[in-house]
Amino acid sequence: MFIDCWKSAILIAALASVCCAQSLRQEAENAGLLVGTAVRPPQLSEAAYASTLAREFNMVEAEDAMKWWVLRPDRATYDFRQGDEVVHFAKAHQMKVRGHCLVWGRYNPDWLTHGHFTPRQLSRLLREHITRVMKHYRGQVFAWDVVNEALDENGNLRDALWYNQPGIGLSTEGTAYIEQVFRVAHKADSHALLFYNEAEGEGMNRKSDAIYVMVRDFKRRGVPIDGVGLQLHIPTLDAGTGAAADISSNIARLTALGVQVHITELDVSVPLDSNGMPKSEDLTRQAEVYRGIVRACLNNPGCTAIQTWGFSDKYSWIGSHSHGTRGHALLFDRAYQAKPAYRAVWEELSAGRTSDSKPHVNPLH
Ligand code: XIL
Repeated sequence: MFIDCWKSAILIAALASVCCAQSLRQEAENAGLLVGTAVRPPQLSEAAYASTLAREFNMVEAEDAMKWWVLRPDRATYDFRQGDEVVHFAKAHQMKVRGHCLVWGRYNPDWLTHGHFTPRQLSRLLREHITRVMKHYRGQVFAWDVVNEALDENGNLRDALWYNQPGIGLSTEGTAYIEQVFRVAHKADSHALLFYNEAEGEGMNRKSDAIYVMVRDFKRRGVPIDGVGLQLHIPTLDAGTGAAADISSNIARLTALGVQVHITELDVSVPLDSNGMPKSEDLTRQAEVYRGIVRACLNNPGCTAIQTWGFSDKYSWIGSHSHGTRGHALLFDRAYQAKPAYRAVWEELSAGRTSDSKPHVNPLH
């Protein structure tokens, strides 16, 4: 009797340690998947931040450090310091680097937005920027978000500096400005994978339909596009059970066009009370939302990366973005302890891909 109890105690302890003895990174590598996160360079000097990052992820992306407003303090200057920190960290820990982002209507420096440039000048500025930045990171950044968030919720092109305010000279030609940018990017670094990255076009809706139509058109005409980034900033409450199935269908139709899909900015925010605390049942639901999304990616051979938008609740854009009403959106709490969401992601990664969803390309090389 005593021996039996003792044996079952050992068994329980062994089972408990099965979860998460290995890191997300190791599990993802077994599954042929990149698992990444957005990073903030100033935090790399924080020991717990750096050690968690290096242990758990095999890919990083600068949360802000490669955007125009950081890279281009003025027209003549390129400030690569913060972006380089991300690249150096990645190199030291054998991680891949995604670049984000070359063209976006937002987070541009004032000198650019209020510079009253003509389309011809803007076109030149853009070409120079893309060429200089991609050459600087050539061989180090393996994939770029070339164009970010160009569409509105109805699937129409958003009014934006590079499109029609005043644009680079193609404002009457629909997606031609996006096409042009992909062509310039391909010329600057023909080895980098080129992505179109978008928010709220993850499931089946008007925006994802428009992305699909654009990518199909680009592929048919040989415009150099390699992938679509699905951001996936989602609040738990909106993520019903149908959400993952919908995302799965969208991933399937995109990858059938011959492009890869990366999940690029995943976070699942929960509502907070007046003390800034979440309900524990929301953290349980959050874990299931994460699980469904990781599974949707793993079930599709063309989904080659899952990236969260930060990893510790200590640093997440959701707080300021939601004016403090939502938060706790990531896999680790503020003290870098793994949350239920971490466990759910770990379990899915460790279950791996099904035999018919092995990736056609090895994303780790
Ligand atoms: C956010 C960053 O997280 C913030 O630090 C910054 O203040 C604003 O931008 N979609 C994107 C990301 O593509 O670049 C945004 O990142 C979040 C929404």
